[in-house]
Amino acid sequence: MDQSSALTTEQERNIQGVGLAGFRKDYQQLLFVCFDDAASGCRLLASLKDVVASHLEVSSFNRAYSEVRKRTGRDDVIEATWVGLMISPKGYTKLGVNLANEMPSEPAYEAFKAGMASRAPQIGHTHPNDAPGGWITEFRPENGVDACILIASDDKDDLDAVLVEISDAVSAAGCEPVYQELSAVLPGPLKGHEHFGFKDGISQPAVAGVDPEPAPGEPAVAALGEFVLGYHDEAGQTAKVGSLWKDGSFVAFERIAQNVVAFREQAAKAAEGTNPPLDAATMEAKMVGRWPSGAPLETAPGGDSGEEGVTNAFQYKAEPFSDDDGHKTPRFAHVRKANPRDETQPDTEHPAARHRMIRRGVPFGPPLPAGATSDDGQPRGLHFFCFVADLDRQFEFVQRQWLNEPNFPSGGKPEQPNGPYSQPKPGEPADGPDPVVGEHEDGATNALHEASGIHTFALGPEVVSVTAGEYFFAPSISAIEELAAGKTASQ
Ligand code: HEM
Repeated sequence: MDQSSALTTEQERNIQGVGLAGFRKDYQQLLFVCFDDAASGCRLLASLKDVVASHLEVSSFNRAYSEVRKRTGRDDVIEATWVGLMISPKGYTKLGVNLANEMPSEPAYEAFKAGMASRAPQIGHTHPNDAPGGWITEFRPENGVDACILIASDDKDDLDAVLVEISDAVSAAGCEPVYQELSAVLPGPLKGHEHFGFKDGISQPAVAGVDPEPAPGEPAVAALGEFVLGYHDEAGQTAKVGSLWKDGSFVAFERIAQNVVAFREQAAKAAEGTNPPLDAATMEAKMVGRWPSGAPLETAPGGDSGEEGVTNAFQYKAEPFSDDDGHKTPRFAHVRKANPRDETQPDTEHPAARHRMIRRGVPFGPPLPAGATSDDGQPRGLHFFCFVADLDRQFEFVQRQWLNEPNFPSGGKPEQPNGPYSQPKPGEPADGPDPVVGEHEDGATNALHEASGIHTFALGPEVVSVTAGEYFFAPSISAIEELAAGKTASQ
């Protein structure tokens, strides 16, 4: 297939809708299950194979929804409830699939075969509040889940009804529901925002042949093979995988708890001593790289320009941005580290375009009121999901080499792939880790470059904690049928 041509209808019917198109629903229920044995797993897949939503259905709905909303201004005219299915490496093994035979011994596949808990060192989940040993019991290395069923709906009652049907199917198949949790878009003006108060889900890769062409100034299209197996990637390569894997995607799931009070306190402390003085709200935006509305600091450096200012058309180095020092968007800001766009030395081997991911996160838990100065003890955070073709090069690399790495982006390029970045030029402090999601040691610092000089500030304890996680594979619908029929090897 030509890299830029659209998917065929047959391919659109085979790829699941959960990743590439994205469910984009107000309510989402995660149901993690364990198969009792191969037979019970096959029975469950047999009952889900006609229920799982395809890319064709979900993308057609999403287009129709946007059209209706544009015309009517209402978001309740058409509604849908979707189901997605993802299987962990442990789940595949239980079904009888020999992953070593099915997938080449290459980093892209080795990360998946090992599972997220075993990859803690490669991700940076080594600090006590992120380490797998302290995760929710069901996700700890000694336990682990076999599959994640994701149900998403515009309507809570519809969601609950489908949850009952699927829970019955799980029990009827002889499988065990081991953990479930609701995520939902935040209420009122926080709709579409994550718990720290910032609009999320704005910058997504525009996938060649799937999404509309990017607007001028936005990052270039990304090849489909960066996110779905069996298509050309940015290097012009197509993963050589069999029928169980073609048209599917790898998925990194993390349940990330957010400490909103710690985030606010961190920003207030960091703002102390800035010149000219920044208020805490501006420092929060500096930590993220966008304002609460989603407007980027790069295009709206003076203040939040509101919804009309939300754009993805910006770079950091090129004219007219020329923000090498990070006076507008600090080099440590979450979005700048997570996607450094035109930064000159993002990696020894690849351009930034090879480290992109389709993010499908939804918040869980109620918001903490705006002025609250102490935590209310309610669990809250983000059910982070990203869809990629290579967990090692995309998800793990971004977390370890960019978000956690204090010397990225201004330090020297690593001497070998995956090595540490060296310090910036003598006398200049490191940029520091991403203060929002970067995993860091006590005593880590960030360096804010201002026209008046460099303002360094200490980071307190991490403001987010990974409390559960796993790698999954979202198989194609034909692969679900093959597995349900007891096939354990690709055709
Ligand atoms: C609770 C945890 C997290 C929060 C609160 C958070 C918040 C945000 C926000 C507010 C944005 C800006 C909106 C947008 O561009 O869509 C963003 C962008 C992004 N985040 Fe996160 N994020 C979290 C975790 C992560 C993790 C774990 C990763 C990857 C390992 C990640 C990768 C990205 C990427 C790639 C972007 C887009 C950057 C761009 O293209 O400009 N985030 N995040």
